[in-house]
Amino acid sequence: MDPRAAAIGGATTGSPVDTLRFLTCGSVDDGKSTLLGRLLHDRDLLTDDQRAALVRESKKYGTTGDDLDFALLVDGLDDEREQGITIDVAWRFFATGRRRFIVADCPGHEQYTRNMASGAANADLAVVLVDARAGIMRQTRRHSFIAALMGVRHVVLAVNKMDLVGFEAARFAGLVADYLAAVAELGFASVRAIPISARDGDNVVTPGPRMGWYDGPTLLQHLEAIDFAPEPLAESFRMPVQLVARPNADFRGYCGTIARGLVRRGDQIMVAGQDARTTVTRIIARGKDAEVARQGDGVTLLIDQQRDISRGDVLCAPAAPVALTDRFEADLLWLSQTPLFVGRSYFFRLGTRLVPGAVAKLQHRIDVDSFAALPAERLGVNDVGRVAVALSAPVASERFVDCPDLGGFVVIDRQSNATVGVGVVRRIPAAAPAVVWHRMTVDKAARAALKGQKPAVLWFTGLSGAGKSTIADLVERKLYAAGFHGMILDGDNVRHGLNRDLGFSEADRVENIRRAAEAARLMTEAGLIVLVSFISPYRSDRAAARERFEPGEFLEVFVDTPIEECQRRDPKGLYARAAAGEIRNFTGLDAPYEAPLDPDVHLRTVDEDADSLAQMVIARLRGDGFIS
Ligand code: ADX
Repeated sequence: MDPRAAAIGGATTGSPVDTLRFLTCGSVDDGKSTLLGRLLHDRDLLTDDQRAALVRESKKYGTTGDDLDFALLVDGLDDEREQGITIDVAWRFFATGRRRFIVADCPGHEQYTRNMASGAANADLAVVLVDARAGIMRQTRRHSFIAALMGVRHVVLAVNKMDLVGFEAARFAGLVADYLAAVAELGFASVRAIPISARDGDNVVTPGPRMGWYDGPTLLQHLEAIDFAPEPLAESFRMPVQLVARPNADFRGYCGTIARGLVRRGDQIMVAGQDARTTVTRIIARGKDAEVARQGDGVTLLIDQQRDISRGDVLCAPAAPVALTDRFEADLLWLSQTPLFVGRSYFFRLGTRLVPGAVAKLQHRIDVDSFAALPAERLGVNDVGRVAVALSAPVASERFVDCPDLGGFVVIDRQSNATVGVGVVRRIPAAAPAVVWHRMTVDKAARAALKGQKPAVLWFTGLSGAGKSTIADLVERKLYAAGFHGMILDGDNVRHGLNRDLGFSEADRVENIRRAAEAARLMTEAGLIVLVSFISPYRSDRAAARERFEPGEFLEVFVDTPIEECQRRDPKGLYARAAAGEIRNFTGLDAPYEAPLDPDVHLRTVDEDADSLAQMVIARLRGDGFIS
């Protein structure tokens, strides 16, 4: 063993060995790989093979003369790279006698914000590297901001390449002052600055005699010693249930990872959103019975009563229960090339729950250079904004600072299933909403019964000129003649009033459809059969519209006319105008139309005349019992 390593206390201490997760970040040339390679080498954590390869490769490709080039070593370890769909972070594991370490090495280029966010989401500490010559850069601020956003509480500012500035104390002090000023608002629990030379090894594992003026710890000493995890408390216990284990009729256990706090056998616990309490009768951890389990432990809990608890429920301490909420304010980091659309339905994954929801409002964008709040119309890739989120169902959620597992979320595109954003809950409105639903005596069913029908929404979608409004009109005439109460909401007409402020950008169409669906919902409350005739080109918006209604109440009617036929008919002369360049973003030409994949009613207008198609719709309404 390297005697220098022993000198810094490589021996196992009395305290239990814990795991510190950290990430390294910085600009491309700040020396991340070299630092990691140097650390592993100087602490004697390389295998003989790795060391031999390093000597060989350094001779061949090295950029450091006769010395070892540690950047090559880390590249050589890249086999461990974990290539996920959303993660491009290399995770490395190593252990000293004091601690285990898991380190995420994040690519430094700006377009890799996503990877850095993935790395930071699981990290306790960030090593932010800066080049002593260059000072605090835009990238340094940006990475620090994202680390803070993703819940990293401790930072090491590693001022690298001190050898290239003559190991000057004043240079280091100036840089540290700049950094502290830059991140003052980010609320880190600790920031420790260490002057290093990753290339030569000064202050990485062993103190660098060339910087006698520095009397703090080396990087590894600090990583081994830092007290990074708050003591877990029983009062703050939370555990999202991942699985209900029922191997036989006598056993029912709730499995999950404790998100916060600790639980002891005999403790009272409750389910978030329910009042009743119950007692923990058994704790099983790593296959054995345990008296107590803590934050981060994977456990199975048994309780003293039969209770209706399922996957996605959150168990918590009654002293500080978790509330259910369908609304919160959050900071959102947008990761997709397609911008965020306010009002569009996305999936939100919080804890073990996946629920549809939307950003109801974009309050402002946060500039990652100045951390200032700027007014914003949109969030593009790598932008961060403060948003108001509305979910379609209440879930157990908390502020991110209180419980990262229940306050962090991922936004998923409904069509592609891609992760398009990550966010953290900043504020949850007070439990009692200011606007309270007023339950009326005469309800939807009563209004519909008076009309002798069941309310329904027929959602006609298709290209402009496909025949939506013509067929909807015929359907309403047939309903009227038979004594039923219908109502048409037509895209062109509604754009004269309720939606007169909207154009044809993707964002405006999202809002157009949201309002149309909301208006249709009010009309079903009135007991009507509502015929909505909007192009509604996006699948996710139609899916979101459907979700506003009761199961079975919403029928998607695809008015299927090929674009060539629509262009030939061109009832309003719009295709001609679009072709002449007078109209932009025209559906089917330079704006997309996403045809329904599985419509409830499929009307092919080139095969049948409008009247027979309207008759098909009426038949469907009778078949489903909406009218009789
Ligand atoms: S939607 O896409 O937002 O659902 P909506 O049904 O309200 O559209 O309005 C479509 C109608 O607006 C078309 O039938 C056409 O008369 C008119 N219109 C004007 N400009 C456009 C455009 N760029 N794309 C599609 N329709 C347009």
